[in-house]
Amino acid sequence: QRARSIVSKDFIIGTTGDRLFGSFVEHMGSVVYNGIYEPEHESADEDGFRQDVLGLVKELGLSVVRYPGGNFTSGYNWEDGIGPKAERPVKLDLAWRQLEPNTFGLDEFMRWTRKVGAEAIMTVNLGTRGIDEARNMIEYCNFPKGGKYSDLRRSHGIEQPYAIRTWCLGNELDGEWQIARKTADEYGRLACETAKAMRWVDPTVELVAVGSSARHMPTFPEWDRTVLMHTYEHVDHLSLHHYIGKKQNDTKTFLAMPLEMEQQIKDVIATCDYVQSVKRTSKRMKLSFDEWNVWREPDVEYVPWQTGCPFDWVKFHMEDALVFGSALLSILRHADRIDIACQSLLVNTIPMILTEKGGAAWRNPTFYPFLHASRYGRGQALRLVTDSPKYDTAAYTDVAIVDSAAVYNEEKGELTVFAVNRGEEAVLYELDTRDFGSLAFAEHIVMSHERLSAVNTAQRPDEVKPRTGGKTTLDGGRAESVLEPYSWNVIRFA
Ligand code: AHR
Repeated sequence: QRARSIVSKDFIIGTTGDRLFGSFVEHMGSVVYNGIYEPEHESADEDGFRQDVLGLVKELGLSVVRYPGGNFTSGYNWEDGIGPKAERPVKLDLAWRQLEPNTFGLDEFMRWTRKVGAEAIMTVNLGTRGIDEARNMIEYCNFPKGGKYSDLRRSHGIEQPYAIRTWCLGNELDGEWQIARKTADEYGRLACETAKAMRWVDPTVELVAVGSSARHMPTFPEWDRTVLMHTYEHVDHLSLHHYIGKKQNDTKTFLAMPLEMEQQIKDVIATCDYVQSVKRTSKRMKLSFDEWNVWREPDVEYVPWQTGCPFDWVKFHMEDALVFGSALLSILRHADRIDIACQSLLVNTIPMILTEKGGAAWRNPTFYPFLHASRYGRGQALRLVTDSPKYDTAAYTDVAIVDSAAVYNEEKGELTVFAVNRGEEAVLYELDTRDFGSLAFAEHIVMSHERLSAVNTAQRPDEVKPRTGGKTTLDGGRAESVLEPYSWNVIRFA
């Protein structure tokens, strides 16, 4: 089989902003407790942060990390998690039915992000709480001094404000599962007034309004339209979430499912642009894809009303990494409108990094496509003109066997083409790179496995991992790569 793409410097989609390479830390299961934070672990540093996990997180080169939820946020009192640890209360978290000891809170998270080298994205509780708490929280985080909450921060030894740039105005408030769910009008009004108050404390912040929590919600995209009608002038981004789970035991269908994610992106853009027209404004709404991932039945049963009990702790299969890779490509292909993207979640809940309490930390196969995009996907996303063989399933027609995206980093003089081969046969992939005359072939990274069900375990952490040495030749501006069956590929020119 053969496929072909033309790649040109002139076909620019947009710049892949730094915030596209983000992840998400929620107080959920063992993401925080026994995940990034485990003071009793042998690798824990002076703050109780697991350094084995920290090392893996740093490898990913995350630009942003969203916190503290998620559904957790809609019942969270941020003040419970600050100040002397001995005085912090244990609370019931109704979102995940767990005991929240509050020994890790806002200040610990900010210290952890600094160690990671990432920027924080903070979410305020617009479920059980509202404007008052949001304005106090932003004062605590971003105001220099002189008010009750900024001085409270200083009394905790944090003299300089955190200057958190990006704030989410709640989370998934359209969902029945949400603590204090709202109608679109109720939420839209609340988000609008909260945004005003927060900006009066710090006019420099960027705000994210809550869009529909999924494309299958009955209120999609009417929720989004209504919320934007209330908030358009006051926010910078609209959020979207998407989780891709295998429904039948059918690989072809599963590999095609990211097409729905791409359709959701297009639907949300259309909704934003519709409201832009109604509002007769030149302001273009940007998208915050602040939760996206693949999903699979967990390997460990969840026990409620514990702290740090694994929730959706799953060893992803090779197959999941291909779907994850395609999802990532759909984000890169919309770099003109998606400004923020957070893989969800970082550790232990449908994670890129798995840990055992008191034991090892290792990489899920999905770790690698993210790593490659974070390393080589920064620059100008280019629109590929592609001709690929296609297949049909009961649910999807015309699914391209080769799914690809390209990014050019002019400063570094590097072109990277990412490609997923969704097929069971090898594909000879021709790339017309004549527009990049001076670039030479640099490397072809491949991730594949003879078993699509292969996983990484604590005992065999490297069962699924990428290797260099994929077959690519370059001659007169035409590259030819062999895309192995069911493979993730990173083809680099420099
Ligand atoms: O799995 C993470 C959860 O999924 C988040 O808390 C919520 O926002 C989404 O429904």
